[in-house]
Amino acid sequence: MKEYAPACDRNQQVILDVLEQILTRSSFVLEIGSGTGQHAVYFADALGHLNWQPTNKEPLDSIHAWRDEANLENLLAPASLDLLDLHNSTVDTTKVDAIVCINTIHIMAWQGTENLFSLATNVLPVGGLIYVYGPYRYSDRPLEPSNENFDLWLKERDPVSGIRHFDEVNKLAQRGGLELEGDMAMPANNRSIWWRKS
Ligand SMILES: C[S@@+](CC[C@H](N)C(=O)[O-])C[C@H]1O[C@@H](n2cnc3c(N)ncnc32)[C@H](O)[C@@H]1O
Repeated sequence: MKEYAPACDRNQQVILDVLEQILTRSSFVLEIGSGTGQHAVYFADALGHLNWQPTNKEPLDSIHAWRDEANLENLLAPASLDLLDLHNSTVDTTKVDAIVCINTIHIMAWQGTENLFSLATNVLPVGGLIYVYGPYRYSDRPLEPSNENFDLWLKERDPVSGIRHFDEVNKLAQRGGLELEGDMAMPANNRSIWWRKS
């Protein structure tokens, strides 16, 4: 059944505006934490030069439903990918040259972020790109009040989740040979951050 996330309506165009600029040289996107599947449909439709592979941890029903309705040639069937259990993922990563992960790394334990960047290090070719979107902490400023509240809410739900620190995420990226290429302010105190494999 098609699920609907109102946040996707609010952020999909501003995210697309960034992806359009940074995915010009990409051909195969692995989306991690695809959620309802709305973003996958919106981005695959707008970025026709890309093959778009949505993934999520099970269940994948909503992504299937959005994909079936959209009927886009470049939108692949969703595959199971759990960032905390990568060994059991069924997704074929051989053609992946870009990874997109939106509003997902703060939802799970830190190990999920470590695994995301190991995956990026292992599957991306030189010149390949990883893009993340969401709220982040920074050393030079306090977390915005709206994100403080969000962080408290996340931790009440699951104490091992929470808004991540940019420096720690960047350290993982650097360790894997991924160079920071952009870090852009987005609406509602979110960030678009991307790294390229050097
Ligand atoms: C806040 S939602 C964001 C979904 C979508 N990217 C969006 O922006 O609408 C977080 C997503 O992460 C997924 N998720 C949670 N734990 C995960 C894990 N261990 N591995 C992969 N995805 C996970 C959830 O199922 C959900 O789809």
